[in-house]
Amino acid sequence: MIKNLVRKNVIGIKPYEPGKPIEELKRELGISSIVKMASNENPLGPSKNAIKAIKKAALSVNRYPDGSCYYFKQALSRSLNVSADNLIIGNGSNEIIELALRTFVNKDDEVIMSEPSFLIYNIACKVTEGSPVVLPLKDFKADLAAIKASITDKTKLIFIDNPNNPTGRSVGEAEIEKFLEDISPNLIVVFDEAYYEFVEREDFPDTKRYIGRKNVMILRTFSKAHGLSGLRIGYGIAEKETAAFMNRVRQPFNVNSVAQAAAIASLEDLEHIENSKLLILEGKHYLYKQLEVFGLDYVKSDTNFILINVKQSGRDIFQKMLKRGVIVRDMNAYGLDSYIRVTIGTMAENRKFMKALRGVL
Ligand SMILES: Cc1ncc(COP(=O)(O)O)c(C=O)c1O
Repeated sequence: MIKNLVRKNVIGIKPYEPGKPIEELKRELGISSIVKMASNENPLGPSKNAIKAIKKAALSVNRYPDGSCYYFKQALSRSLNVSADNLIIGNGSNEIIELALRTFVNKDDEVIMSEPSFLIYNIACKVTEGSPVVLPLKDFKADLAAIKASITDKTKLIFIDNPNNPTGRSVGEAEIEKFLEDISPNLIVVFDEAYYEFVEREDFPDTKRYIGRKNVMILRTFSKAHGLSGLRIGYGIAEKETAAFMNRVRQPFNVNSVAQAAAIASLEDLEHIENSKLLILEGKHYLYKQLEVFGLDYVKSDTNFILINVKQSGRDIFQKMLKRGVIVRDMNAYGLDSYIRVTIGTMAENRKFMKALRGVL
């Protein structure tokens, strides 16, 4: 039996459930149009400049990529105003999460995370034989006081997705400042800011300013506002020594050449990012209003998605919405059985979503 050969810590892991391909769903359900509002992607697609860069880069895929991501790091370093040595580039920010665990976490070291939060922290922690310490959210956001109270001599990493996935709520600057004030220097606090471009609150922390002062790492991605999920590219910002050690652990060619070229072009297309942000803001406030008219509770979001309490099985609603050509995410895997999460789409998609939701409820 293969199970006898598998590492013990892998046996208990629940696999991450990706959705089915859209074409397959259309065929199964016999419908011609489906909108996907399940994975927090950019409904506008990638920047036109990125598409041009992708076509050009495609001509050279017979060559290995630049293993140091030299030009991308230069571009990112200018854009973020940090040194290139502070950057670590990954095959999605997902890979940076894994690299952080593989670089710093020994067997049974504790890794603190919230529940619910991005599912990969827990899965990747178990794979590396770390011990997840899971704390409930408070008011749908990270409970920083409880996190701090849970730190022990064995704590190595703390993951805080700010804003949180799947709730969309964020923690402000004053709370973060207080949290970091007397934090132990023997651990690293990872702020996962996958959705930072969409944040509306004005007191969102500028966590970059802690680099060099505290053991912090910031994760960002090109999968959300930049619309490059399919190419897999994200990055971490950390103190130079931290980044250097993580560099030892990664595969030599972890980020493909097409992704590097597209991300450089996308970084320069400020207009595309601005348009994407405006579209999400418009859609978000439209959906808030519609949900209120309809009498549904939702969580105010600093991201491109909204968590909605449907007060019945979210999985049933997901199935029924699917038949009406709208894919949302049910929240069973996150332990929020009466919720769905919807990614804000184009205005036409948002209207289609509301129509389907009204229909099924
Ligand atoms: C909070 C959070 N972190 C990280 C990621 C991973 O993004 P990437 O596509 O860069 O791997 C996601 C994706 O959904 C996310 O929600």
